[in-house]
Parts: sequence; C-alpha cells; structure tokens
Amino acid sequence: MMILGFKVLLILTSVANTPINCATCHFYLDEDLGYGCEMFDVNVTEKNQPFEISREHLPGYSDCDVNWLNVTDSGIMNFIPTAIYGTFRNIFDLVVFSGVQLNEINRESFQYGFTSTIKLDRNLIKKIPSRAFIDCLYLFYLNLSNNLIDTLEDSAFYSNRFLRHLILSNNLLTTIPETAFVNLKSLTHLYLDNNRLDYLPENVFSTLRALHVLNLDNNFLASIPLRLLKDTFIDKLYLNNNQLERLDLGGDVDIDGFWLHELYVNNNRITTLQESLFRRATWVTIFEAGWNNISTIHPNAFNQNSKSSKLAHIGLSHNNLTEIIPGTFHGLLDLRRVELNSNRISTLTNDDFVSCPPCFGPDILDLSDNELKIIRSQFFVNMPRLGTLNLSSNKISAIDRHSLEILTNMTNLFLADNSCASTNFKGITEENITEIKESLEECFKNYDELPPSGSFLNKSSFASLRISALLILINKLNFMNV
Ligand SMILES: *[C@@H]1O[C@H](CO)[C@@H](O)[C@H](O)[C@H]1NC(C)=O
Ligand SMILES: *[C@@H]1O[C@H](CO)[C@@H](O)[C@H](O)[C@H]1NC(C)=O
Ligand SMILES: *[C@@H]1O[C@H](CO)[C@@H](O)[C@H](O)[C@H]1NC(C)=O
Ligand SMILES: *[C@@H]1O[C@H](CO)[C@@H](O)[C@H](O)[C@H]1NC(C)=O
Ligand SMILES: *[C@@H]1O[C@H](CO)[C@@H](O)[C@H](O)[C@H]1NC(C)=O
Ligand SMILES: *[C@@H]1O[C@H](CO)[C@@H](O)[C@H](O)[C@H]1NC(C)=O
Ligand SMILES: *[C@@H]1O[C@H](CO)[C@@H](O)[C@H](O)[C@H]1NC(C)=O
Ligand SMILES: *[C@@H]1O[C@H](CO)[C@@H](O)[C@H](O)[C@H]1NC(C)=O
Ligand SMILES: *[C@@H]1O[C@H](CO)[C@@H](O)[C@H](O)[C@H]1NC(C)=O
Repeated sequence: MMILGFKVLLILTSVANTPINCATCHFYLDEDLGYGCEMFDVNVTEKNQPFEISREHLPGYSDCDVNWLNVTDSGIMNFIPTAIYGTFRNIFDLVVFSGVQLNEINRESFQYGFTSTIKLDRNLIKKIPSRAFIDCLYLFYLNLSNNLIDTLEDSAFYSNRFLRHLILSNNLLTTIPETAFVNLKSLTHLYLDNNRLDYLPENVFSTLRALHVLNLDNNFLASIPLRLLKDTFIDKLYLNNNQLERLDLGGDVDIDGFWLHELYVNNNRITTLQESLFRRATWVTIFEAGWNNISTIHPNAFNQNSKSSKLAHIGLSHNNLTEIIPGTFHGLLDLRRVELNSNRISTLTNDDFVSCPPCFGPDILDLSDNELKIIRSQFFVNMPRLGTLNLSSNKISAIDRHSLEILTNMTNLFLADNSCASTNFKGITEENITEIKESLEECFKNYDELPPSGSFLNKSSFASLRISALLILINKLNFMNV
C-alpha cells in the first residue's frame, strides 16, 4: 500500500491568490523522475514580464528539491522568464517547455548545469543562438522539433559534449553552418528530417565521431558530402525524399571503407547505380532505393567487393529498370530479400540470378508488376532458399516447368494477374505441389510449344516469335507473288 501510495501521483493544487499570478505549480512525486512541478495557467507575452509562481509544496519539500519542470500545452510562454531558473535552481532531470508558443531562447534561460533532458518541441522558435545551451553541461537529450527554426548560429551546441540525441526535425532549416555541431563528441542520433536543407557544408558532420543515426529525410538535398561518410561511424543514414540524382559512396576514391550498415534513399531522382558503388561501403546490409528513376545498374555496382559484401536487403521497387544485367546479384552471399517490383522488366536473362557457390539467393524475391512474359528454367533454380516469389501482375504466358523445380522449398508463389495464370498460392506444402503444377499446365504447355532456343525462332519472347512468324508469312506471300 505504501509503494502504491507513492506510485499514485500526489497532486496538490495551490490556490492562486497572489497579485501577479503568472503560473501555478502542481508538485508531485513522479515514480521515475522524483519531485517536480507541472506548471499550469502560464501567461508570458512580454520579455522581462514580472513573473511569479504560485506554489504549495508537498509536506517536507521545498524549491530546492524540485528535480524536474514540465510546462506542456498549459498556456502562453513567448519568453522563458528568468524567475523560473531563479526559483528552481536544482533541476537536474528534465525541463520541458512544449507547445507554449515559445519565441526565443537564450543562455540565461538554460543555466541548468545538470539537466539531462530538455524538450522544446512544438513552439515558435526561429533561431538557436550561438552557444545557447552552453551552461547545460550534462545535457543528454535535446528535442527542438516542430519549431520555425531557420537559423543555427555558429557553434550553436558548443560544449554540449555529452549530448547524445539532438532532434531538429520539422523546422525550416535550409542549410547549417559548418561549425553548428562542433564539439558534440558524444552525439549518437541526429535528426534533421523535414527541413528545407538543400546544401550541407563538406565538414558539417566531421567532428561527430560517435554519430550512429543521421536522419535527413524530407529535405531538398541534391548531393551528400563524401566526408559525411568518410570520417564518421554513421550506421544508419536516412535520405528518403530528397533530390539526389547520383549516389556516391566513395567507390571511386582511395579511402578507407565506411561503417554504414543501412542506407535509405527512397524517393529521390537517382537514375544509375554506377560501377563500384558499394566498393567502400562493404558493411551495408540494407539498401533501399525505391521510387527513384533507376534504369541502369552496372553489373558490378553491388558486388565489386563480393567476398565481403553484406548486402542482405536490396529494395529497388518503383524504378525504371527494363532488365537485370547478368551478374548483377552474383557474389552476394548474405542476400535475403530483393524487391524489383513495379519496374519495366520484360526479360530475365538466361543467367542465373545468384551465383557464387555456395550462394543460396534471397528468401524473398518480388518481381511483381513488371512486364515479364516468359519464365525460363535457369533463373530461379539456384535459389534454394527462395520461400516467397511474387510474379503477380506481369504478362507471363509461358513457364518452363523446370524453373519450378525449386517449388519443393517454396511457401508462397504469387502468380495472380498474368496471361496464363491467375492464382496466388500461399502456405504451400509438399502435398500442394502436384495440384499447383496441374493448375500451371497451360503455362508449361505454352513454353513447351515455343520453338527450341538457338534456332532462328528461339524462345526469347512471344513478341519476337510473332514478328518472326509474320516475317516468314510475308516472305512466303512475296515468294508466291513472284
Ligand atoms: C495573458 O496576459 C495578457 C496581458 O499580459 C492578457 O491580455 C491576456 O488576456 C492573458 N491571456 C490569458 C489566456 O490569460
Ligand atoms: C509533461 O506534461 C504533459 C501534460 O501533463 C504530459 O503529457 C507529459 O507526459 C509530461 N512530460 C514528461 C516528460 O513528463
Ligand atoms: C521529439 O518530440 C516530438 C514531439 O514534438 C516527438 O513526437 C518525437 O518523437 C521526439 N523525437 C525524438 C527522436 O525523441
Ligand atoms: C528518368 O530518367 C530519364 C533518363 O534516364 C529521363 O529521360 C526522364 O526524364 C527521367 N524521369 C523523371 C520522372 O525524372
Ligand atoms: C524511364 O527511362 C526512359 C529512358 O530510359 C525515359 O524516357 C522515361 O521517361 C523514364 N520513365 C520515367 C517514368 O521516368
Ligand atoms: C505481390 O505483388 C502484388 C502486386 O505488386 C502486391 O499487390 C502484393 O502485395 C505482393 N504480395 C506480397 C506478399 O509481397
Ligand atoms: C529448404 O528449406 C529448408 C528449411 O526450410 C532447408 O533446411 C533446406 O536446406 C532448403 N533446401 C535447399 C535445397 O536449400
Ligand atoms: C494445400 O493443401 C491443403 C490440403 O489439401 C489445403 O488446405 C491448402 O489450401 C493448399 N494450399 C495451397 C496453397 O494450395
Ligand atoms: C534468340 O535469337 C536471337 C536472334 O536470332 C538472338 O539474338 C538471341 O541471342 C537468341 N537467344 C537465345 C536465348 O538463344
């Protein structure tokens, strides 16, 4: 019962009876944070406005016991009155000013030397002045998201060398001074997503030696500085929804490899994955580049370093690929998932998809929503691990029965919305195989009826078959006319 009594928030409202009543504190003991104040009825519209806090402490507590302060959605606080710091000098856990129309911050407002967490999200802050948080020596987490920040002054976060999470999402930044993040030696997570960044200075991140996650989603970046990757240990890089036309992972230059493990560049304007793209980025396991305009993948883009490639997930859906050049996926030992859906792929070459004994190919291969017409035997047979194959929404009219010899190990085969097949098979077991093969008999027969490959009329496609047949017919007619 005692413990429960502590867990239940002891809320004590003090009666407001002071002449300048600018805010009211509700003090309580929070299970995690200890003793603190949740502030209500705030109304600060002018700088240096007289400010008094109505407060009545829990028995045995006083102003110097206050660990945390939370002002969230509880009025207007255009400026942070110095009286707050003057009253509660020992806050070391948490300071929150969220959703209170804060316009401006300055050094005087944040002298909380031992505070680990500051949340200033959902306000109207436009500028982070130079060294704004210099007195918060032990700051660990700073959330400035959802403001109107368009300016970070030089050395804005100077001396916050223990800061680990800096969140600047949803602001109006167009660029960042090269010195903005200088000295943030412990920073592991930096969020700059949903800004208007169109330029980043070459060295802007180069002092962030501990950075692991960098989120630059939803900006206007046309390129990324190479040093960004070269001198840091960035593990996850998010660049979705930018204006990148070319991806450069340092493959061409003679530098050490990158630490990068996950790279997300969906929704950009990339047209080509060039040779040696991943030569330096050998630790990348997840590469997502869907919704670009990629029409060319150099066959050595992924596997220049095939002995050490860690690529496991390659996402290339919604691009402009018409073919997969033989060798493109060779040598990728760890490959598990390949998304090639919603492209314009019309033929799969005779080459096998993966080759590098002992390579097993992906577990999941999505080739749906392409323009495939004929499925040949060579393509899937070296993918013993293949569990899910999505071939739906193509134009498949013929399937070599040998190409489905790997069916024994397949759980899902999607073939809906094709010319000779229209079924999805989910949860395939041993006993289904005969049945499935029967239902695909039309596709198999169409394939059997194609003229043998190697002859003039080979099985490259029905289209060429029809054109050739037409040509022969025309020739015959011409001959007869003569
Ligand atoms: C806040 O104070 C201003 C005067 O300083 C007053 O005009 C306004 O009505 C007050 N707003 C609220 C919500 O109390
Ligand atoms: C601050 O107070 C708001 C409103 O009561 C609450 O939703 C929020 O969880 C509190 N924040 C913290 C960090 O305690
Ligand atoms: C930052 O604060 C916002 C609230 O405005 C919250 O939604 C978001 O999750 C926080 N970001 C991080 C990374 O903690
Ligand atoms: C896609 O790239 C091609 C060149 O490869 C270009 O002609 C075309 O305009 C691009 N499409 C879009 C939507 O950017
Ligand atoms: C696809 O690439 C071709 C050139 O290869 C280009 O003409 C076409 O506009 C591209 N399609 C899209 C949707 O960008
Ligand atoms: C297979 O592809 C179709 C068409 O693109 C898609 O609607 C479906 O969700 C895919 N199924 C799976 C399991 O990936
Ligand atoms: C088929 O899958 C099982 C496990 O699902 C695996 O042990 C076996 O090696 C696979 N067959 C081949 C040929 O890889
Ligand atoms: C496989 O066979 C079982 C038993 O006959 C049946 O319940 C199941 O629906 C079949 N699955 C497929 C994918 O055809
Ligand atoms: C099919 O025939 C065409 C034209 O004769 C030739 O270019 C192509 O290489 C042949 N393809 C195969 C798989 O034999």
